Amino acid sequence: MALISASILNGDLAHLSAVAETVRKAGADALHYDVMDGCFVDNLSFGLPVLESLRPCTDLPIDVHLMIQEPLRFVERFVKAGADLLSFHIESGSDPAQTLRAIQQFGIPAGIAVSPETPEERLRPLLPLLREEDFVLMMTVRPGLGGQSFMPEVLPKIRHLREMFANAGMTAHIEVDGGINAETSARCREAGADYLVAGSYLLGAASPAEAVRLLRGEVI
Ligand code: DX5
Ligand code: ZN
Repeated sequence: MALISASILNGDLAHLSAVAETVRKAGADALHYDVMDGCFVDNLSFGLPVLESLRPCTDLPIDVHLMIQEPLRFVERFVKAGADLLSFHIESGSDPAQTLRAIQQFGIPAGIAVSPETPEERLRPLLPLLREEDFVLMMTVRPGLGGQSFMPEVLPKIRHLREMFANAGMTAHIEVDGGINAETSARCREAGADYLVAGSYLLGAASPAEAVRLLRGEVI
């Protein structure tokens, strides 16, 4: 069954502990924490001090998505601040293999994020480095903002990546992020994604618990 990571980016940022509690009560599996540096993406969000403050407010794993130009420089600091899963972009300025290894050394799941325009073939040389707990984060919107529309052209890439995993005898995870709702989550699951990030859909739902069940594809 697909795991659900709730993006807090479009939540009430003045009351993050309340957002974390809403997400926990709704039955989500993790909190998705988007870090933007105004350089890799044209936006700023939150960084280390906010993560440190949020960490003691929840028992949920925190799934940190770095949209920053030099992720390698910050790996250790994000792990120490409370990241339970940590992903970085293949398009960033850091060497992807080195960054992946740096995260893996801390014994947490490591993820390689891929923007919609980036061919999935760029992942091929990195696949042997992925352990079964690691993941590829396929962006289904352009990174930088919550609340955008899902890009269906990413679906064949997810399908192809799942095939690449199968051919390599791999069972790593595929996370999707951006514009995920009840309808698009079903298409992503069908294409091979097993880890779904949802922000505005989940936090904007009249019943976040029902939204989580719909995202997982559970019959209500
Ligand atoms: C976009 C972020 C996403 C975003 C998802 O750059 O990486 O995690 O918060 O939000 P929704 O689900 O609203 O598209
Ligand atoms: Zn994200």
